[in-house]
Amino acid sequence: MLELQNITKHYGTKQALDHISLTLENGIYGLLGPNGAGKSTLMNIITGNLKPTSGMVLWNGKNAHDMGAAYRSLLGYAPQQQGLYDTFTGIRFLSYMATLKGISKKEQKGEIQRVLDYVNLTEKAYRPIGTYSGGMKQRILVAQAILGDPHLVVLDEPTAGLDPKERVRIRENIRNISGDKIILVSTHVVSDIESIANEIILLREGKIVDHDTVPSLCKKHGDVKNLEQVYLQVFGEEEANDSSHTI
Ligand SMILES: Nc1ncnc2c1ncn2[C@@H]1O[C@H](COP(=O)(O)OP(=O)(O)O)[C@@H](O)[C@H]1O
Ligand SMILES: [Mg+2]
Repeated sequence: MLELQNITKHYGTKQALDHISLTLENGIYGLLGPNGAGKSTLMNIITGNLKPTSGMVLWNGKNAHDMGAAYRSLLGYAPQQQGLYDTFTGIRFLSYMATLKGISKKEQKGEIQRVLDYVNLTEKAYRPIGTYSGGMKQRILVAQAILGDPHLVVLDEPTAGLDPKERVRIRENIRNISGDKIILVSTHVVSDIESIANEIILLREGKIVDHDTVPSLCKKHGDVKNLEQVYLQVFGEEEANDSSHTI
């Protein structure tokens, strides 16, 4: 169980997160909000890459920060930026990430093969990531996030910049990540998560507006018929399904 207690984050005078409290149990969660809402900031705090100004992240009641390597080994994270590892081949990137995660040399080969197969990139494994399409880059990021079968998987805008066919592929990959895990996926595009998330967390200007199942959100936000309409209610017309820009 992942618990966020009263998390606030300031960048100088800018308040990116404002008293976020949340409890996540196994399941797929969609973190939905427009650009600038604070999604990446929240994910960076959950993954321990960024310190909150105040508040705490707890894993099964323990302070994640104090757990150190034990927390990192149960965590898989795909950051929003691409292009960091363009000169690596797929296989080298995955070996590197597997080593960072502390997966033993003995287990690495099988585990890398498993995740490559999972995202259907086995045939491209020996090519540099720089030659991959946007969709393939996102898939290799998802692949490294599930190396070692982590209990907590955090995916920051895994569908950003992808064409519709690639979006479906990533969505199916996420849906099929096996079993008893907490999977948190951020997006500003409703259709990416509407059908796969057990619950949606609506984030606006650093605050959680609501957190519920899609049917409950629809009921609560004016008895509308889908998540797109909830989004319009909460965030206004101008931001709806705008996938043209990403940070
Ligand atoms: N390193 C930073 N320094 C200053 N402001 C930042 C920094 N990172 C993010 N912000 C600001 O914090 C807010 C939330 O950003 P971010 O978490 O990236 O949102 P999202 O991922 O939802 O687009 C935005 O207003 C953004 O400009
Ligand atoms: Mg972001």
